[in-house]
Amino acid sequence: MDLPVSSWHQAVFFRKSRRSFLPGRPVAEDQFERLEFLSRAFRPFPEARFEIVREPPDHVLRGVIGSYGRISGAPAFAVMIGTSSSPAAAAFVGYTGEGLILEATALGLGTCWVSGMFRRSEVEKRVVLSGFERVFAVTPLGLGERDFSFKEKLYVRAAGSKKRKVLDEMTQGTSPLPWQKKALEAARAAPSAGNRQPWRFALTPGSITVRWDSGRNGVRYPKSLDCGIAMLHLELGARASGVAGSWEFLDPPAVARFDATG
Ligand SMILES: Cc1cc2nc3c(=O)[nH]c(=O)nc-3n(C[C@H](O)[C@H](O)[C@H](O)COP(=O)(O)O)c2cc1C
Repeated sequence: MDLPVSSWHQAVFFRKSRRSFLPGRPVAEDQFERLEFLSRAFRPFPEARFEIVREPPDHVLRGVIGSYGRISGAPAFAVMIGTSSSPAAAAFVGYTGEGLILEATALGLGTCWVSGMFRRSEVEKRVVLSGFERVFAVTPLGLGERDFSFKEKLYVRAAGSKKRKVLDEMTQGTSPLPWQKKALEAARAAPSAGNRQPWRFALTPGSITVRWDSGRNGVRYPKSLDCGIAMLHLELGARASGVAGSWEFLDPPAVARFDATG
């Protein structure tokens, strides 16, 4: 499937994590159908996929300290699935799952990646996993309340969710060309666990390499998953400036390099 560059690139800049949903407002049938279609059609890597679950995520979040109560009222959720727990698999899941997040955003639905704080056994009752597959994350899906609730504002303030690092802090190499600036601006807007923004970028005139900042990748909150999310944003920014390219996956702590092809 070709990336829907225009609508997803726009969604990059108005997406925000939502945790309070309008109770009693279901996801419309045509929205479910579009997301379910995407779950079959958007498979850029064989090792990653997502599934839509047409029921509230309450069982999945209940009893998990820090999660249940923080996210409430969602009528549905999606499950982000990958094969194996390697850093590359997490990056594939981040890239693929962010496609769902941006499509849901474009449809007017609220989302929030949740990667550590969910009940894996409850998720696994609701999706069928094959041999080597594991669940990396879930996201609630629903209509967010028009204004952020008090509870949401508290979380946004605690996580510093509105802040993003300046590009100079995250970038090294040659001076960014116009398409690279647009790509980096889109990557910078990506969501990350606890808003830690672990991605770093190395530039040459024809490429951008994405790697994580330092230290270990992590298991519950792999930095390579955040980097995979930023990769989709980066590619959308490049393509929105008319520059196509392809990804070459690299050894950790590098994740992948985007080579411009024209
Ligand atoms: C991989 C991942 C895991 C996350 N896990 C949680 C979580 O467990 N609970 C939560 O409330 N938010 C979670 N978030 C949302 C982040 O806190 C949020 O993306 C960040 O603060 C930036 O805010 P924004 O998404 O509104 O731009 C997660 C985000 C990502 C990308």
